[in-house]
Amino acid sequence: MNSNLEKDIVSRRTFAIISHPDAGKTTITEKLLLFGGAIRDAGTVKGKKTGKFATSDWMEIEKQRGISVTSSVMQFDYNGSRVNILDTPGHQDFSEDTYRTLMAVDSAVMVVDAAKGIEAQTLKLFKVCKMRGIPIFTFINKLDRQGKEPLELIEELEEVLGIHAYPMNWPIGMGKEFLGIYDRYNKRIEQFRTDEEERFLPIDDNGELAVEHPMKVTSYYSQAMDDIMLLDEAGNAYSEEKIRRGELTPVFFGSALTNFGVQTFLETYLQFAPTPQPRITEDEQFIDPVEHGEFSGFIFKIQANMNPAHRDRIAFVRIVSGKFERGMNMTLSRTGKSFKVTQSTQFLADDRETVDEAVAGDIIGLYDTGTYQIGDTVVGGKKTFHFEKLPQFTPELFVRVTAKNVMKSKQFHKGILQLVQEGAIQYYKTLHTEEVILGAVGQLQFEVFEHRMKNEYNVEVKMEPIGSKIARWIENEEDVKESMSSGRSMLVKDRFDNLVFLFENEFAMRWFADKNENIKLYSLL
Ligand code: G4P
Repeated sequence: MNSNLEKDIVSRRTFAIISHPDAGKTTITEKLLLFGGAIRDAGTVKGKKTGKFATSDWMEIEKQRGISVTSSVMQFDYNGSRVNILDTPGHQDFSEDTYRTLMAVDSAVMVVDAAKGIEAQTLKLFKVCKMRGIPIFTFINKLDRQGKEPLELIEELEEVLGIHAYPMNWPIGMGKEFLGIYDRYNKRIEQFRTDEEERFLPIDDNGELAVEHPMKVTSYYSQAMDDIMLLDEAGNAYSEEKIRRGELTPVFFGSALTNFGVQTFLETYLQFAPTPQPRITEDEQFIDPVEHGEFSGFIFKIQANMNPAHRDRIAFVRIVSGKFERGMNMTLSRTGKSFKVTQSTQFLADDRETVDEAVAGDIIGLYDTGTYQIGDTVVGGKKTFHFEKLPQFTPELFVRVTAKNVMKSKQFHKGILQLVQEGAIQYYKTLHTEEVILGAVGQLQFEVFEHRMKNEYNVEVKMEPIGSKIARWIENEEDVKESMSSGRSMLVKDRFDNLVFLFENEFAMRWFADKNENIKLYSLL
């Protein structure tokens, strides 16, 4: 194995930031990019939201709504590591792409607003990370404002998320009285809002501030010391092994807006964050990033219409092993077709540039003219294989969809088929009437669907919302009778002809389960 390649691969750290909208994901991302020298001015990333940033390349919808429809990828170098941040849309209209992005990372950073604690979207995204068993690092943000008590936040983290937490540092005061953080890991106190020389204060062998300092006589300092003693005695033990397995989350406190604690977080995080991890194939072979030798990767996202003038699509590939070089031959495992890759892009914020080389851990974009599907495996060598299927996520929103013009029925079905195959939306149909019902995890997916049907397939669609439903698949389909279907528990088929119940709400589902104890229901992720 080429030792330079190995060195390149183990320098990669690929992660996503998960959070509820407004927790501060954009602000932190921006600070990380500033440290990495990837951007020069604050406001570059945030500007995207407010429309100050160039949006010419982005989808019309994205411009109209001022949000990122699909996740982009940002890359920078820091202390010898090459960091890839995969952005997950922070808007409440997030989509399956957000979930799938988590399949392409090796760890996740969870940003929590100290005043709000764990919020709905964080919980959803967290569950996906936990299912994958990837390390999760927590950043509790906005300490410059009054928030919940730190101990309460740790308790909430453990109770709501069902994960053990280990505070790597601890706030001294909060809000207007925020003095700094007691850094348990680096054994120092980091002062809030102070000039550089005074930023770090040493602590002695007893864990006390080692120098005379006004902070020492404040009640905030004694409170923090009491809390830390409690954590030392009754808190979770520090275990790198458990962090690696995603069972223990290291917790960092800070304030992204004032750029406090972010650099300490980044530096500590980079020491722990996993290097590119092996992935498993459908026949249960492990593909090691280094050992496998040849290039391989999988497609976790397809972004359409980045450039409306060309109607092109970009397939995002997570490189699992080896090295990508522009001009190389690749084979798409699903079709067995080989092709030379001459057009490829990498992503930094919104600037796309051509990439000549990339290695395991990196994300590249391949120009797509309709060749790729989500979950596809691409390999560099002759021998093809398939990475494990990406999970399908249980949709929560449904619409009944028809073509406005019945004469366009052919294009309508063609468009739907392609968009469903691509993974943009989920397809269901009613049993006899075969009406088309589409499912999504976020409203935005419907809007993108409507936009693409019009622009790519020239079909205007009529979408009739049927509201949010709870979808459940059935283990023992043979025991299901059509008479079990009703307005509140509608029976439909998915794209693979599996039966699915769409329940109106939790209550309808429980009522059904009580009445039909023999029917075994299950949900996807
Ligand atoms: P998001 O990407 O997770 O949605 O959050 P974003 O970074 O956009 O932050 C949401 C709001 O919270 C922003 O304020 C931002 O300035 C603020 N914020 C982020 N980190 C901190 C922090 O550490 N302390 C405090 N006090 N505020 C923080 P906004 O008024 O909604 O937006 P803007 O006008 O500042 O752009």
